[in-house]
Amino acid sequence: MIQTNYPPQHVAIIMDGNGRWANNRGLPRLVGHEAGGKNIRPVVKIFADYGVKYLTLYAFSTENWTRPRAEVAGLLSLLGKKIDQETQTFHQENIRLVHLGRLDKLSNRLREKMKAAVELTKNNTGLTLCLAFDYGGRDEIVQAARRMAGAGIPGDNIDESVFARYLYTTDIPNPDLVIRTGGETRLSNFLLWQAAYSELYFIPVLWPDFGHKDVEEALSEYRRRQRRFGKI
Ligand code: IPE
Ligand code: IPE
Ligand code: MG
Repeated sequence: MIQTNYPPQHVAIIMDGNGRWANNRGLPRLVGHEAGGKNIRPVVKIFADYGVKYLTLYAFSTENWTRPRAEVAGLLSLLGKKIDQETQTFHQENIRLVHLGRLDKLSNRLREKMKAAVELTKNNTGLTLCLAFDYGGRDEIVQAARRMAGAGIPGDNIDESVFARYLYTTDIPNPDLVIRTGGETRLSNFLLWQAAYSELYFIPVLWPDFGHKDVEEALSEYRRRQRRFGKI
């Protein structure tokens, strides 16, 4: 049976392989991150043109802080640059920006930039673009539990739908399709709760090289999948 949930409402991407992309060219890893950053706008456009309503991009995990300081600093500065360069255009394109993850470890400047971009675009009605930055699935679940406890919610009142409202993804539907570039076949702490029934798609293409043909293949593979959600 061919599935009818097409195009997927929400696609989430683990943008992996920037370091290897640079390595293959004898370039510093940060050049790979820059190339990866440049690929965001065109990929957003491709998915929007296919009718995808929510696109989530995994840009920095809670574990990525353990990378060498210079790489972490480079990634943080790249985030700031991208927000500066892209926010106005995203806004003009009616894109709503959402941040998934922690803000408390970012510098005040970067935190304010991120908040301002989210605030500026919050009423936009086109594609919702979720940027997972300093995001970890386990961290998200722990933070949700802490916030529920802090709000004094009695244990008996907590069910899956209440829990889900306390996640960073509050009003974002679960991803239908999770794509990972770069060839690794793991989730690396991405959307652990939300991806419970997502279709998973792993490809060797490195993130800076991910383009139209790859999107087309991922979507046609998704179209062939039969999602059962435990039913027969
Ligand atoms: C993904 O690319 C970007 C981040 C994790 C920030 P990597 O930097 O992990 O690239 P590889 O996996 O080393 O090639
Ligand atoms: C996952 O990539 C995180 C992002 C793409 C932001 P990693 O390169 O950090 O994942 P591992 O370490 O290979 O699992
Ligand atoms: Mg990697």
